[in-house]
Amino acid sequence: QAPKLTSHYELMDWAAKFFQLQLRKHPSRQAVIDYIKQRGLDGDTVKRFGIGFAPDGWDNLQSQHKHNPSGLATLTECGMLIAKEGGGRSYDRFRDRLMFPIRDRRGRVVAFGGRVLGDGTPKYLNSPETPIFHKGRELYGLYELKQHQRNPQRILVVEGYMDVVALAQHGIPYAVASLGTSTTSDQMQLLLRTSSQIICCYDGDNAGREAAWRAMETALPHLRDGVQLKFMFLPDGEDPDSLVRQQGQQAFEALVDDATPLSDYLFTTMLKQADLSSQEGKSKLATNMVPLLNQIPEGLLKESLFSQLERS
Ligand code: UTP
Ligand code: MN
Ligand code: MN
Ligand code: MN
Ligand code: MN
Repeated sequence: QAPKLTSHYELMDWAAKFFQLQLRKHPSRQAVIDYIKQRGLDGDTVKRFGIGFAPDGWDNLQSQHKHNPSGLATLTECGMLIAKEGGGRSYDRFRDRLMFPIRDRRGRVVAFGGRVLGDGTPKYLNSPETPIFHKGRELYGLYELKQHQRNPQRILVVEGYMDVVALAQHGIPYAVASLGTSTTSDQMQLLLRTSSQIICCYDGDNAGREAAWRAMETALPHLRDGVQLKFMFLPDGEDPDSLVRQQGQQAFEALVDDATPLSDYLFTTMLKQADLSSQEGKSKLATNMVPLLNQIPEGLLKESLFSQLERS
């Protein structure tokens, strides 16, 4: 039985520790450890990110709080228990999954992502929106990054938990994940306040390439002078996790150094769609570009992009 915890933060912290304990003690932990090894993660990384294991079963979590009704109510508000409709018994949301705690900027556990061990759907089950978790405002790995670097020179934005964790293990601790494919405006503003160079590094697939364009559009109104937004495009079928394991830190960081600046990305993409040999094509390019460039705050970046447009 767990002690009588009441607050959301206390109970989420307790849950994270409970999942970590299961990874060390649960009778079926070996399959999970095998999975972790197969994914190439070492013990230090597991510890650094507080990764744990939610065992199979409907009431592993809730049976620890049998005599704490307000604790059970809070766990339900936190999305850890699901209340059956009609007042039936509740059950644990996360079962038989590898658990990634999501921390807020003060290091408090506010949510979890749980990966199925192998194949199965959904691949990742995430905490719902709760009184302490607003998905679009958190960035997975930001707290862990700030523990390493108070003022990161650059931050990679990736799609997934595994990308953040694998990069950190390979000596690249400055990646965060946006918890879903699109990076929200709140997340983009937070990123641009935290570092002056943000590099979007999404998966090498159509979803990833579309996410890059959306991230660029989201960032435009926040691109004050002095901040840089760049893009990395990974080979088809790769993501940062698979690539860094294949190529190692040096090769990966060489790709980071070579990331495409916003201006190149913007013009290359737009020029591909325009036929500049005709006057119609040229004016179509301008028609598409002007509304985008107009969103950038007044400053040198905006001026230089407008003059680049005039020259093209
Ligand atoms: P991906 O499908 O690229 O997964 O989704 P991944 O991170 O590479 O996962 P592994 O390597 O197979 O373990 C990217 C991110 O999208 C969210 C998760 O945050 C995931 O890390 N996602 C994906 C979900 O929330 N649910 C899903 O079912 C799938
Ligand atoms: Mn919300
Ligand atoms: Mn993907
Ligand atoms: Mn992956
Ligand atoms: Mn991926």
